[in-house]
Amino acid sequence: MILDLSQLKREGYLLLSEVDEGDLAGTAQELGPLRVDPRSPEPIRDIRPQDLESAKQNTLSSRYGTGAFPFHTDAAHWDHPAQYLGLYCVDPGEGRRATMLIDSRVWALDDDEQDLACRALWATGHVRPRLCTFAKETGSGLEIRYDMDCMKPMTREAHSLKALLEARIQDCKTTQIQWKPKDLLIIDNRRMLHARASSARPDTGRLLKRMLIGGDRNAVLEL
Ligand SMILES: [Fe+2]
Repeated sequence: MILDLSQLKREGYLLLSEVDEGDLAGTAQELGPLRVDPRSPEPIRDIRPQDLESAKQNTLSSRYGTGAFPFHTDAAHWDHPAQYLGLYCVDPGEGRRATMLIDSRVWALDDDEQDLACRALWATGHVRPRLCTFAKETGSGLEIRYDMDCMKPMTREAHSLKALLEARIQDCKTTQIQWKPKDLLIIDNRRMLHARASSARPDTGRLLKRMLIGGDRNAVLEL
């Protein structure tokens, strides 16, 4: 399958339909190698709503259970968070819950805000805490990481940046992805934030497959 990279670049995400599960790894590799988290070493990982008791420690499920998840970057605690996130729908679940997207470009941070975003210090990582910044300047704009469940503001500047970002997230337009079986969503994980909406009823049948793709020269795993 040939991915429309121009759309991914323009919109920050790409939604494909009728993708065969067997094509996932090959499609992802058009963007870069698959990367894994040592806690969950499967390169294509099953994601299901999980209650608090059965969730792994320090995961969003361990904090929010089967409820909604807040907007975040995946693998924000890595030294180099994955460049892309792939989500594939096997079963949208009985609750038909959506995945929500926010594009950080629409925040239109001014020069002072961008400087603050690239300078203010946060701590991230539960197991191996270390300093990071929310944003990094690149040739194609700011790259961001944001996950308030694994990042903690360390300075007064970072606290004021946190308040600013929360206000922007609150005010900005969101895109809702309503899943159909065999949909594949590719998200630019260093530009877009994603969240899981709530479900009106238990949806234990919901099954997505997750891939973390590219963004590190020393890839942990290449299929
Ligand atoms: Fe996520």
